Amino acid sequence: MKKIIVYFSYSNNTKKLVEKIEKSLNIKTVRIERATPYSSDYDTCAYVEAKEEWLKRLCPEIKPLNINFNEYDEIDLFFPIWWYTYPMPIATFIKSLNDYKGVIKVYANSYINDYQYMINSLKDLKELNHNITFKEGLFNKGLNEHLLDMKGD
Ligand SMILES: Cc1cc2nc3c(=O)[nH]c(=O)nc-3n(C[C@H](O)[C@H](O)[C@H](O)COP(=O)(O)O)c2cc1C
Repeated sequence: MKKIIVYFSYSNNTKKLVEKIEKSLNIKTVRIERATPYSSDYDTCAYVEAKEEWLKRLCPEIKPLNINFNEYDEIDLFFPIWWYTYPMPIATFIKSLNDYKGVIKVYANSYINDYQYMINSLKDLKELNHNITFKEGLFNKGLNEHLLDMKGD
């Protein structure tokens, strides 16, 4: 099975994890980046920019990824929880995949270890695109759990 990791990361926790997975399992990895970067000031990003995007369901422009995702059977989607669910650049990405035939497996992490965030994320992702199959990956797990989860198939 051919898979690719697609991730979003603001303060680089997700980036660091994904880079270790990429190195160990040799899976191609691409980063989702907002075309206009979020403020480097955490409070401005969290309480102004990200909050407004989520409340108004604004999909920010992201930098082009230039990948034909239909060449992959599975997209392993990694992101930090923002405001109890996925960050809005993830929504932009999902909406760009209108004819994707494979499966998207969801790997999320957050500051507070509240599994409800994974439930919210899966539910909110499904609402974005009913034609895509989303599967639960891991929530707030370490590198070893990810390697075990991802190397099997
Ligand atoms: C805009 C924003 C919103 C966040 N919302 C939550 C939240 O609702 N619950 C939580 O536990 N952590 C929240 N966090 C913390 C991040 O999920 C956590 O620090 C994550 O590991 C960051 O990953 P990153 O370094 O890859 O960006 C938020 C962080 C930001 C910047």
